[in-house]
Amino acid sequence: MSYKAKFRVWRGEGGEGKLEDFTVEVNEGEVVLDIIHRLQATQVPDLAVRWNCKAGKCGSCSMEINGRPKLGCMTRMSTFTEDETVTVTPMRTFPVIKDLVTDVSFNYKKAREIPSFTPPAEVKPGEFRMQQIDVERSQEFRKCIECFMCNNVCHVIRDHEENKSNFAGPRFLMRIAELDMHPYDVADRKDSAQEEHGLGFCNITKCCTEVCPEHIKITDNALIPMKERVVDRRYDPLVWLGNKIFKR
Ligand code: SF4
Ligand code: F3S
Ligand code: FES
Repeated sequence: MSYKAKFRVWRGEGGEGKLEDFTVEVNEGEVVLDIIHRLQATQVPDLAVRWNCKAGKCGSCSMEINGRPKLGCMTRMSTFTEDETVTVTPMRTFPVIKDLVTDVSFNYKKAREIPSFTPPAEVKPGEFRMQQIDVERSQEFRKCIECFMCNNVCHVIRDHEENKSNFAGPRFLMRIAELDMHPYDVADRKDSAQEEHGLGFCNITKCCTEVCPEHIKITDNALIPMKERVVDRRYDPLVWLGNKIFKR
């Protein structure tokens, strides 16, 4: 069964833009990305949208639908009533390139700032032995499809451009936590998480966890445990004494 839906889509580039209204056909089983593609095919051939897999796995089609970060390819039209106006805008935290396509290079920059997995020099490939529980812990974090909706929604940078240089965002604080929890990682990640990547900015609002399409418990399983690890280190009396002695 098909019907005509009201769509309001943000269009613009170079820092300028506005919402434009369209009426567009919707068929049974379709998702928001299908409707954007129909708009391209029938009314606005130059409407820019990034997508790849149309299966919720590449993380490319992140956008804001009725003000909430969503994957366009996983948002069914059946979740809206037929007379509802569906408003589609680009992710707000990142600069717009054109229409619904944002420049997410902030995230790649942050990824590069995190030193990679650092195993002890004496352990050779093939000699790694891990407990199943450690494998499973990091597997949850590795489900990340890098849609960057968690970073997009986090209030620390969403409305505060000035915080971007000092905050890696939940996606990469989770990466730091994953590495810190790895039994074979010997890099010291606790001080840098706090001092360079802004772990202290996170006040556990959990908005990141709410929007994650992979249902990763970013806050409970990565950010809070990482905060606890940092606190354990800082308030460990031996570490405190060591810091005192070496800072003299
Ligand atoms: Fe997306 Fe979840 Fe990965 Fe964040 S943690 S980038 S919301 S998949
Ligand atoms: Fe931001 Fe998530 Fe913390 S939304 S404040 S990183 S819990
Ligand atoms: Fe790949 Fe939507 S197109 S996640």
